[in-house]
Amino acid sequence: MTQDEQKRAVALAALQYVPMGEIIGIGTGSTANFFIDELAKIKHQIDGAVASSEATAERLKQHGIEVLNLNSVSRLPVYIDGADEITHNMHMIKGGGGALTREKIVAAVAQQFICIADQSKFVKVLGKFPLPIEVIPMARSYVAREIVLLGGQPAWRQGVTTDNGNIILDVHNLNIMNPVELENKINQITGVVTNGLFAKRGADILLMGTDQGVETIT
Ligand code: 5RP
Repeated sequence: MTQDEQKRAVALAALQYVPMGEIIGIGTGSTANFFIDELAKIKHQIDGAVASSEATAERLKQHGIEVLNLNSVSRLPVYIDGADEITHNMHMIKGGGGALTREKIVAAVAQQFICIADQSKFVKVLGKFPLPIEVIPMARSYVAREIVLLGGQPAWRQGVTTDNGNIILDVHNLNIMNPVELENKINQITGVVTNGLFAKRGADILLMGTDQGVETIT
């Protein structure tokens, strides 16, 4: 299977986790887009969706799926999203699409995080994919210097402004042996909105696309 075929297969498999008559959280990126396209076929079964980005909200609306503000929703049984990297213990790097902060917020509210990913995302150790950090614009240089002290090499994602009006630093050359500790440490730097480590709140279920089909990892 090609990478896109794996993405489509996990998107289809994720439909079985969509509860009837509920509002669900939806992530951002190409795999999430495949999921939205599948969800459109059963849209009458749900009450609506909370989007983790403006791009996702737009795609949902194009399919005629109602998009709700997270502040008007008291429970989200499930959040379905992709990842840039994921380990066997369900720690992830996310934010390749720049939506990490809203993704983390929606994931925090959700009772269950279903990660949908092709096999290339499954890694032993996080860090080959540069770790995205959303930063308040005026703190960019300060945060970059602090990241260097932690052993990373930050690169400013030029020309990108997040949905929240901030910038992204992509941190290269991190070998992340303790993702929970690093997630906390980076979030404590003044000026950081959040970082793309999803370790404290990892995934609950991984639906991984392989050449043999979809593997379910819990
Ligand atoms: C966006 C994300 C995405 O989930 C991640 O980048 C994976 O994207 P794709 O499904 O296109 O590979 O975190 O901020």
